[in-house]
Parts: sequence; C-alpha cells; structure tokens
Amino acid sequence: MNEIEKQYPFLRACRRQPSKYTPIWLMRQAGRYLKEYRALRRRFSFLEMCKNPELAAKVTLLPIEKLKVDAAIIFADILLPLEPMGVELEFSKSEGPVFRHPIREMKQIDGLRIIEPEEDLPFLMEAIRIVRGELEGKIPLIGFSGAPFTLASYLIEGGHSKNYVLTKGLMYQNRLAWDSLMEKISEVVVRYLNAQVGSGVQALQLFDSWVGCLSPNDYEEYVFPYSKKVIDGLDGNVPLIHFATSSSTLLERMKRAGGNVIGLDWRVDLREAWARLGYDVAVQGNLDPVILLGPVDLVEKEVKRILDSAEGRPGHIFNLGHGILPNTPVDHVVALVEAVHQYSSKSRS
Ligand code: CP3
Repeated sequence: MNEIEKQYPFLRACRRQPSKYTPIWLMRQAGRYLKEYRALRRRFSFLEMCKNPELAAKVTLLPIEKLKVDAAIIFADILLPLEPMGVELEFSKSEGPVFRHPIREMKQIDGLRIIEPEEDLPFLMEAIRIVRGELEGKIPLIGFSGAPFTLASYLIEGGHSKNYVLTKGLMYQNRLAWDSLMEKISEVVVRYLNAQVGSGVQALQLFDSWVGCLSPNDYEEYVFPYSKKVIDGLDGNVPLIHFATSSSTLLERMKRAGGNVIGLDWRVDLREAWARLGYDVAVQGNLDPVILLGPVDLVEKEVKRILDSAEGRPGHIFNLGHGILPNTPVDHVVALVEAVHQYSSKSRS
C-alpha cells in the first residue's frame, strides 16, 4: 500500500487494520435503483454502457458523492470476459443474461479461447484508468470477476438457473469435460483479474454467487481446486474478497481456497460466521437487501445489530448480503451509510 492507500478505511479493513469507523460499500451500488442510471439506460443498452469507457466510468462514480461509500466498484459484469472466449452474450429484458448457444460438450469446450484482457476488453481497462484518475485521494477502486463455478454455470445453463441440473449434470457425468472447462475459465479469470490490477484497481472481489447450490463434498471435489488456483494465480498485492451466497456450509472451505476477506450473505449470523472462520480473516456483510426497502428505523436497528455482532474488531467491511434491489429508495441507502459511519465511530471512541 502507498501512503494514500494506507489511510483508506476500506483497504485497512481488508488487511484487518483498525480504522476510525467501519467502512461500507454496496454490491450493485451503481444500478437501477438510481434514477440517473435509469435515464442513461433509456439511451444505451447495458452492454453498450459497459463497453464505453467514459460511460462506464461515469456510472461507476454515480453513487459515490451521493452515498458517501468507502469504495467504488468498477461498472462491468461478471459475464463480460466470456464473450471473447467465443460465446454470444445477450442481456434480454425479461430473462436477464442469455447465452443462446450454451456449452454442453467437449467439442465446444475445446473451441473456447483463452482471452487477452488488454486486447479483448480494452474498454474495461480504460474505464479503470479514468475512474482511478477521478478518485485519487478519495476512495479506492474495486475490480471483480465471477469465480469459475459461477461462470461455468452461466455457460452451461445458458442463463440463470434454479437447480443447476445441467451444470451438475456435466460435473457428474463428464468429469473430463468439466475439468477442461473449469481449467480454461480459471486461466481466463486469473488473466482478467491481473489485468484489472495492472490497470489500477486496488482490491478485488471474486463472486461465486451460485456455488451455494453444491454440497460441501462437491465443492471440495469439483470447485475448490479451481477457486484456489485463481486466487493463488493473482500477482501483485491487492486484497481479495471471496464472496458467495447460500454459502453457510462452505465458509471454511472458501477461506481455505483463499482471500483476505470472506463475503457473507444475510442467511448467516455474522458473529457466528466470523467465530467459525477465525479472526485471521476479515469479513464483509451482511444486511439483507430487502431490509433497505424500509422502514428506516428498521435499517438503523439492523445496522446496530450487525455492527455489535462484529464487536468492533478490525477487519469488518459493512455491505449487503447480496446486491441492492432495483426498487430500493435512494434515501434509505444514504441513511444506511450514515448509520454505519456514525454508530461505528461512536462505539470506537
Ligand atoms: O456492483 C456494482 O455496482 C458493479 C457492477 C456489477 C454488475 N454486475 C452490473 C450489472 C457487478 C459487480 C455485477 C456482478 C454480477 N453480474 C454478478 C455477481 C453478483 C451477484 O449478483 O451475485 C452476477 C451473477 C451477474 C450476472 C448478471 N448481470 C445478472 C444475473 C444480471 C441480470 C439481473 C439484473 O439485476 O438485472 C446482470 C445485469 C446487470 N449487471 C445489471 C447491472 C447494473 C442490470 C442491467 C440493466 O441495467 O438492466
């Protein structure tokens, strides 16, 4: 960390160093709950916004002044690096992300390209450089990627899934194909994350959003080696947040796979989860995003409960347990950030 970075509460918490207050940022803080975002989306598609560095930088910065959060996250998507691997990605209004030609066979896996992030996703690297210029001396910038399992699930299912039957089907029925696919995706994720660090991000989050559909044994057998390989493959020295949802039974294994910070969803009690993980790792979380719909006094009550359960220990980053919902009132989000800053600085003194 340089002299400026040493002062940032968010980066300090990633390293379990004390700070004046508990830092907070929010997953999906740049998104549809902001009217400025919705106005831009009337003019541009989601992918157009991601692929235009000036627009992506602008959207990244939208929530910063308004919310007073302690970190920015670059505006992009976990599915972006899959496109240059040779699959067609579409964001449909009703279905969300869709791959019209899902990956189900060895032949298709053999055809997937290992990407060169600087050449294949230059818009993202440029957006990172623009945002870093704007944020210098204010707050740090987070880069991110999907983890191998979650990315594989989109490629195999062709979109979001309820039971991950096709993903698990490939896993159980064609081990060779599964390992080849996970191997390729892992290599892509390492390159993608390292390129973001090279362009200037100061922390990383690895989203294994849907891995909670697996048994602990299957996580160990089919996923752990690849998540570990990705995290071990990162060069440079920026902290990594390892996040999943419905991951209560997997937390210790996720910690073993790696990361300076483990991201918790709201289904676990933060105090219990941190005690289980051990205090040699930081934690992030874990307000239920639905709480933000209101009322505000419930938001404040939950903030106190969660902060109390962290017991003022260095190494807690406040966040939601998953992304902000599109119908969240902005003033509730402002109240959340204020409550976290106020209550945590009061209990420090
Ligand atoms: O957090 C941020 O503000 C940074 C940007 C960000 C987006 N997606 C922008 C986005 C991040 C970190 C992501 C991660 C992401 N994308 C994940 C992991 C996090 C999670 O939610 O578990 C996943 C699974 C995706 C894939 C994805 N992208 C889905 C399932 C969807 C559709 C669902 C939805 O909310 O519409 C997207 C689209 C998407 N990604 C939007 C945004 C702002 C909405 C696009 C729009 O404007 O319509």
